[in-house]
Amino acid sequence: MKQVLVLGAGGFIGSHLVTRLKSEGCWVRGVDLKYPRYSPSAADEFVIADLREPANVRDALDRPFDEVYQLAADMGGAGFVFTGAHDAEIMHNSAMINLNVADAAAKRGIRRIFYSSSACIYPRENQTDPQDPNCREDSAYPANPDSEYGWEKLFSERMFLSFARNFGLEMRIARFHNIFGPEGSWNDGREKAPAAICRKVAEARDGGEIEIWGDGEQTRSFLYIDECLDGVLRLTRSDFAGPVNIGSDEMVSINRLVDMTSEIAGKTLRRKHVPGPVGVRGRNSDNALIGRELGWAPAAPLRDGLVSTYRWIAGRVDSGEADAA
Ligand code: NAD
Ligand code: GDD
Repeated sequence: MKQVLVLGAGGFIGSHLVTRLKSEGCWVRGVDLKYPRYSPSAADEFVIADLREPANVRDALDRPFDEVYQLAADMGGAGFVFTGAHDAEIMHNSAMINLNVADAAAKRGIRRIFYSSSACIYPRENQTDPQDPNCREDSAYPANPDSEYGWEKLFSERMFLSFARNFGLEMRIARFHNIFGPEGSWNDGREKAPAAICRKVAEARDGGEIEIWGDGEQTRSFLYIDECLDGVLRLTRSDFAGPVNIGSDEMVSINRLVDMTSEIAGKTLRRKHVPGPVGVRGRNSDNALIGRELGWAPAAPLRDGLVSTYRWIAGRVDSGEADAA
């Protein structure tokens, strides 16, 4: 039986990944500061631990794991990452975790490690045209991420790759492009646009108005969680190290995202554009490299994932769940 460690197993992607690995028959240990918020973890063993502490990381890696998934990070959407208010904690906490994981894995002789980097590493000047952003993997340098979150991810990519060169870690690195789905943050200040828009649409009365940060013409692509897991597992079990984009290339404006969500909800809503943290003007996953190397591409359109995410969030709004911010 394959033995797998998931760091960040209490989070959105980590908790879904544990469920997937269990369904494959793996033995799974999950580690996080907290249990998953919305459903019990499927892990065989769930350890509550702070991975900023080197001894906790050494303890977490005390078995000859076949695969380690490093997803633990201080993370959030534009309202968390782009205000500047959390820069120090994001850089410090996530870098500490990654340094500890690389060191402990090398000392324990653990080989195969997946690391979740981000589209936020790409240079800001390549993402000024909302219709034609450049997020090709080889455009990362010369580096100029638009957030400290992006700089930390870029540092950690390089740090893990140096451990691969010098200590034999078999790194697999993905740059995620805005992953969404049920059981993700939706009301705690860390929610990303798909969840935030679903919540605002669910809370609004038909004929009413919802607030959107910026003019809504900024573009993004959004990848549904199940598709993300397919990409992660395929990359981790391949001979290709990356870094490689895991995202959707169905680019939409935020206004379009609002319209799609309103249509799914069966509501007619007005958009009120307000100042807010907007990040880069345009971003889209370039999937040429992953298509070539792994034959992977998302299978379903954005709308499909939006339907199940809207249903899940609307259900929570309808049941009167309090604001968790
Ligand atoms: P998440 O916030 O839901 O999960 C991260 C988990 O890490 C949380 O459960 C958190 O408690 C845990 N964690 C943070 N600090 C810790 C510590 N000191 N010790 C132990 N656990 C700690 O985020 P997610 O959306 O599941 O993202 C997973 C990974 O993917 C992160 O590294 C994130 O930066 C990366 N990523 C995600 C997206 C996305 O759109 N979701 C995009 C790009 C990159
Ligand atoms: N979160 C949020 N909430 N965003 C909104 C809202 C709202 O109510 N209204 C409009 N937006 C706009 C944001 O201003 C931004 O321009 C766009 O929607 C997308 O916002 P997010 O989904 O929050 O973040 P992002 O795509 O800019 O960056 C996220 O994805 C990266 C990977 O692609 C972040 O989560 C990063 O941490 C992550 O690495």
